[in-house]
Amino acid sequence: MNSFFEFALRPRILYKPGLVREMSNEISGLNVQRAFIVADAGVERAGLLDTVRAGLGSSVELCGVYSDVPANSSVAAVEHGAALAREAGADLIIAVGGGSPIDTAKAIRILLTEGGNLLDYQGYNLLTRPLTPMIAIPTTAGTGSEVTAWAVIRDEANDLKIAFSSPFLGPDMAILDPELTLSLPPRLTAATGMDALTHAIESFVGLNANPITDTLGLQAIDMISNNLRAATHTGNDIEARGQMLIASCIAGIAFSGGGGSLGVVHALAHTIGGLYQVHHGTANAILLPYGMRFNMDTVPNRFSRIARAMGVNAGGRAEDEVIEDGIAAVEALLIDCNLPLRLRDVGVPRDNFEGMAETALGDPAIYTNPRTVTVLDALALLDLAW
Ligand SMILES: [Fe+2]
Repeated sequence: MNSFFEFALRPRILYKPGLVREMSNEISGLNVQRAFIVADAGVERAGLLDTVRAGLGSSVELCGVYSDVPANSSVAAVEHGAALAREAGADLIIAVGGGSPIDTAKAIRILLTEGGNLLDYQGYNLLTRPLTPMIAIPTTAGTGSEVTAWAVIRDEANDLKIAFSSPFLGPDMAILDPELTLSLPPRLTAATGMDALTHAIESFVGLNANPITDTLGLQAIDMISNNLRAATHTGNDIEARGQMLIASCIAGIAFSGGGGSLGVVHALAHTIGGLYQVHHGTANAILLPYGMRFNMDTVPNRFSRIARAMGVNAGGRAEDEVIEDGIAAVEALLIDCNLPLRLRDVGVPRDNFEGMAETALGDPAIYTNPRTVTVLDALALLDLAW
C-alpha cells in the first residue's frame, strides 16, 4: 500500500424505501428555488418522473425537464441540456436515472457554472469552485454515479468516452429509494449490478486502494453476490433491490472516494462503449473474469479475500484454489443472471482489436490497474473475451 492515501465523500446519502415521495423537507435545506430534472426516456415511460414531481411538494418550483438523455450520453446531449436549464433559470439540477442521466447532469453543471467549451474541463481537477447544486436519484443499482466525483461522457466526434474528475462534480445529495428500481427489467438489473461488482473488485485490487476503501469494497462484493440473483429474477423483491442499491452506492464510494481507482476491465469497457455503444455494465460483465485472471498473480492475497467475500469457503485450502473458485463464483453469477458471456454476442467486431487496445491504454482507468498492461496484454484480453 502507498504510505499516503486520501478518502473523501461529498454527498449526503439518504436511504429509505418510498423516500422520494417525501423528499421535499430534505430539498428545503438546500436553499434553492427552481429545480430542473435530467432523466432518460425509460425513466419517463416507467412513470418515475411523476413520483419525483410529487415528491418535490412545495419545496421548489419545477422549471424544466430534459427527459431524453441518450443511453451513452454525449457532448451534444450535455450542451442541449445545459441550454435548456440555463433558459429555465434553474438553480438546482435533479438527475433521475442510471449513469447516463446522472453523468449528463453533472456535466451540465460545468456549463451552467463555468460556461465555455465542455471539452476544456476533461481530465483531473480542472474545476476550481462549487457547481450548481445537484441531487442524484439513481433508478439502477450499478454505476454509483450518485456518489462519485466522476462523469463519463461520449465524445461523438471521436468515438471516445471522455472522463471528468473533480471533487466539485459530486452531487450534494444522493437519495436512494429502492422503489424506483422495481421496474428495471432483468437484463438491465443484472448488467448494472455487474458494473457495481466490477467497481468493487477493481477498486479493491487497484493501486489507489486504502484501508477505508478496502472495507467498502469487500462489503459491496458480499452484498452483490448475495442479492443480484434475487433482484434480477424477482424484480419486485424490495429487500434485494434495496441491498443492491446500497451495495452499488458503497462500490461507488470505494472507487471514487479513494481518489479514483479502477482497472483494465473499465479501460476496455469504456473503449468498447465509445466505439460500439455496448451497454457499460454488460461490457464490464463480459470482461470481468478475464481481467481478474490477468491480475490475480500480481495481488493474490487481494483475490483470495475477494473469493471469500463471494462466499467461497477458504478453510485450510491452497490460496490459488480459493482464488480460482472466487473467479468461478463471478462466472456463475453471470450465467445465473443470463448475461452474455462473449464480446461477439454483443455486436463487437473482431477487425479493430489493435486500435481498441491502443485506445484502452490511454483510458484513465488503466493507470490504477495493479499489473502493468501492454498493448499485447490488452489484445490478448480482447481475444479471450471475444
Ligand atoms: Fe463502471
